[in-house]
Amino acid sequence: MTTRMLLFIGAVLAGVGTACSTPGNFIITFYGFPDNSPPGSGTAYNCGGRNYIAGGSGTYDDPVTIATAPGELDVCEIVYLPLLTKYGRREDDCAQCTTDYSNGEPHIDIWTGSSNINGGQNQIDCEDNLTYGGRYTIVRNPPTNYGVNTSPLFVPPSTCNTQDVYPDNPAHC
Ligand SMILES: *[C@@H]1O[C@H](CO)[C@@H](O)[C@H](O)[C@H]1NC(C)=O
Repeated sequence: MTTRMLLFIGAVLAGVGTACSTPGNFIITFYGFPDNSPPGSGTAYNCGGRNYIAGGSGTYDDPVTIATAPGELDVCEIVYLPLLTKYGRREDDCAQCTTDYSNGEPHIDIWTGSSNINGGQNQIDCEDNLTYGGRYTIVRNPPTNYGVNTSPLFVPPSTCNTQDVYPDNPAHC
């Protein structure tokens, strides 16, 4: 192949790969088995062979399920969440996110596990306790090698890992 041809292919590939960015101002909330719609671990999209079941530890290869408004993130897009030091993948929709997004407020809802046990009111309380309010920056098209905390956010019946949320963690590409 000629050098000319290789340069051309390189330019095309550079155009396809999307650059890393750090959009801000995201409302971040949490959801799980008891307050999913309908209750359970079902998701709207089948990403990475997960078969419409929410889950994930937060590594790049096992990202935690996140939900957003249509158009806010691409279906099955992987982002990095400095708030949790976890990668997340958009596998679900979220009604409140859709309302907020249409009002100019980006919003991500994050799955808290477990995939097969309903944590009931303890889990709802935990989701509230994990939610710090404020607005957060995420990383789109992130490098794949950022540090992650793989601890589950909620473990039935009542373990709530609020110490694994880092509201002051900055986002960078
Ligand atoms: C949530 O926070 C409240 C107030 O600090 C605490 O009493 C409760 O045990 C917490 N619940 C969970 C599930 O962490």
